[in-house]
Amino acid sequence: MDGLSRLEYRGYDSAGIAITGVEDSDGGPAGSLTVVKAVGKLTNLRAALAELEAAGGVPDSRSAIGHTRWATHGHPTVENAHPHVSMDGRLALVHNGIIENADALRTQLRAEGYEFTSETDTEVVVHLLDRAFHDPDLISWEGPLDGLEGGELARGWALVAAMITVVARLEGTFTLLALSQEVPGLIVAARRSSPLVVGRGEGENFLGSDAMAFAAHTTDAIEVGQDQIVAVTADSVTIMDREGSVLEPHHFNVDFARDRATKDGWPTFMEKEIHEQPRAIADTIADRLDSEGRLALDEVRIPESLLRGADKMIIVACGTAAYAGLVARYAIEHWCRIPVEVELAHEFRYRDPVVTEKTLVVAISQSGETMDTIMAIRHAREQGAKVIAIVNTPGSTISRESDAVLLTHAGPEIAVASTKAFTAQIAATYILGLYLAQVRGNKYVDEVQDYLEKLEKIPEKVQWVLDRAETVRQTARTMTDVDSVIYLGRHVGYPVALEGALKLKELCYIHAEGFAAGELKHGPIALIDEGQPVIVVVPTPRRPELHNKVVSNIQEVRARGARTIVVAEEGDTSVDEFADVVFRVPATPTLYMPLLSVIPLQLFACELAAAKGNDVDQPRNLAKSVTVE
Ligand code: M6R
Repeated sequence: MDGLSRLEYRGYDSAGIAITGVEDSDGGPAGSLTVVKAVGKLTNLRAALAELEAAGGVPDSRSAIGHTRWATHGHPTVENAHPHVSMDGRLALVHNGIIENADALRTQLRAEGYEFTSETDTEVVVHLLDRAFHDPDLISWEGPLDGLEGGELARGWALVAAMITVVARLEGTFTLLALSQEVPGLIVAARRSSPLVVGRGEGENFLGSDAMAFAAHTTDAIEVGQDQIVAVTADSVTIMDREGSVLEPHHFNVDFARDRATKDGWPTFMEKEIHEQPRAIADTIADRLDSEGRLALDEVRIPESLLRGADKMIIVACGTAAYAGLVARYAIEHWCRIPVEVELAHEFRYRDPVVTEKTLVVAISQSGETMDTIMAIRHAREQGAKVIAIVNTPGSTISRESDAVLLTHAGPEIAVASTKAFTAQIAATYILGLYLAQVRGNKYVDEVQDYLEKLEKIPEKVQWVLDRAETVRQTARTMTDVDSVIYLGRHVGYPVALEGALKLKELCYIHAEGFAAGELKHGPIALIDEGQPVIVVVPTPRRPELHNKVVSNIQEVRARGARTIVVAEEGDTSVDEFADVVFRVPATPTLYMPLLSVIPLQLFACELAAAKGNDVDQPRNLAKSVTVE
């Protein structure tokens, strides 16, 4: 249950656990399979399990599997929650991913008499596995399953053989874990394009979607590669290829996943993470100069000749990370004079993008596990492009599958709504942009140092904004009844507007739209009506060509009845007469402004969600890490 709770960020609409029972001295069920499931967050499963335990229904056990779900096929109900069990109730399976040929397989299985009790794609796998497991013509597999003997060993081999047989029939993406009451000392797993890591302990072993699931018990992890199968007993871990040939395990250390994040006195993780941003940005940009004063990215081991020869950069990411990419475009194009495209990862490969060996792809991801982004980088690398990942999670799939990794040092981000990861991602792209400008000869070393010095001042400016949050909080508390908010921004303020709107949608369930301010008159202004809240991110007055146009936009919406909330630089009095409320940020170079102007928008959404009584850290329908396409 502790492992599951560490993975709850992946989905929290229902959860379940299956436990194989063994002979026990207290009279609990033996040679059994006990399955407990509950809709909603993990606390509901905990309660159900505690109730069962009190009634003596939890067996002594040598193996168990559990799952937290983010619904893809079928509503979040007990029937659709994992684990799913075979018709005889003796075999259980959990699944992440999507089985794309589930409909065809279900039709075949129905014709053979299999009955389905859920709407999930997963249930076809449990029936296929059960059928193979009891098939007299099953292929034979014999390999090390330490600790199993006699009949249990023979059935263990059969379960592995059944998994080998079944995965060959599956299309799509999956991590599968299965156990049977016939082999209570064994878990068999398989993966294709969904993550799976093994934790190697002393007389105990673990499987998890990521290492956080077991890092409290062991830091010795084993990688499970694409299309590999794993058989785990308390004493052995056997990694196989898709044909069942045993492979050498590849161990790595997961010390970094050991500490469990706590709220440290903050009411929510999101509040805490918003307030961690000065440190997250500072840690991300720290110690980047070498002894000669040149910007050095030790992690980015791509030959400088390739970086110099790149003729285009494509940034791929999703959600908030994609907005960080949009901010990056302004800086990198300006500093490096290289064309930068920013593409939602899930759109990227399906539009047949022009990617060559001279394309530099930058994948941005907090989790490093977003399936859309993983698929995008695979596609890019197949075309010969080099991929630099900007990720917050060391050892994650994206970091392992990229040519180079630039880590953001934001620390674990627990709240589903991304905050400190966003600003750390932007800071990392600035570092990357300055590094490229230096390598490609667009900026002299002293110019890069000058930009860096100004960047180093950002954390204290973020703190300045955080210390003056009261106006933001008060404004948010007056807006619990609004049902629509419009966000406007221009230049680097545009992605900030998009991010502000996303925060409001995901936390407050309020319809919110971010627009490029210049686009207003091309249509969105028709939305403005009496009292419509409009939040405007105003550029610095030191860039009058941007500033004056946005101030005009404020006047335009105000003239049509909008309630205007303005994010403006300290001392910019030109906005005062047109703004109902002003959120102030300190003066800073234009390209760095998003790191400041997004802070009030994060606080605003967080405070408004709390005032509405919403779950700030785990908003409805979402998952922290979207591990399906
Ligand atoms: O882990 P990633 O950065 O790859 O996640 C990408 C998006 O799913 C994520 O930023 C999402 O949009 C957040 N919930 C936004 O707050």
